[in-house]
Amino acid sequence: MYIREYDIIVDLGCGTGYLADQLSQSVKHKRIVGVDDRSATPLPSVQYLVQDLSQSWDSLSPVLKALESKVSLIVSNFAIQFISDKNRLMHVVSKLLAKNGEFVANYNRAPDVMSLLTSEQIKQYNIQLQTKSELQQLDEIQTACSGNGLNVTKVDVSLLKSRVNEYSIKGRLKSMAIL
Ligand SMILES: C[S@@+](CC[C@H](N)C(=O)[O-])C[C@H]1O[C@@H](n2cnc3c(N)ncnc32)[C@H](O)[C@@H]1O
Repeated sequence: MYIREYDIIVDLGCGTGYLADQLSQSVKHKRIVGVDDRSATPLPSVQYLVQDLSQSWDSLSPVLKALESKVSLIVSNFAIQFISDKNRLMHVVSKLLAKNGEFVANYNRAPDVMSLLTSEQIKQYNIQLQTKSELQQLDEIQTACSGNGLNVTKVDVSLLKSRVNEYSIKGRLKSMAIL
């Protein structure tokens, strides 16, 4: 079996660095960098950088920019949903990635709350939200990828059904979750 070796791995929105630490034990690599906008005590295997990833490439810290075109694998677990400008984020991702580098992200899409409400509910509660459909959100990230020279090779959408992900609006909606 062919097992790819990675030079530099970056975990975007790494939290405590749990995923990065798991990767450090299971994937051949030279260096693992975890990036998050909150400071945390990282696991010892992970080099931790505090950085707001909603910033443009030019505004990033010199330490992160020094990884330009050097990162062979970027991962992100349930973090990129917090960064609204996906085009800017994908620009950062494409700047970091080395030739043939890969980006693997797992994230939630936001529920399209407005489409779940009746016009009576919208009126009654004076709800003025701008929410995007699941398809719009998927299209947005795919456009952000292709616009920044990233080739989308796999999209896997799954529906999570758990208590945590249940939304109920005045008992009219049963359950719904969006990933
Ligand atoms: C749900 S946690 C996931 C943490 C980790 N990836 C994991 O799987 O345990 C989301 C993380 O994204 C980080 N985050 C949110 N917005 C961010 C931003 N603009 N820049 C960098 N990190 C951000 C949060 O600080 C948090 O650690």
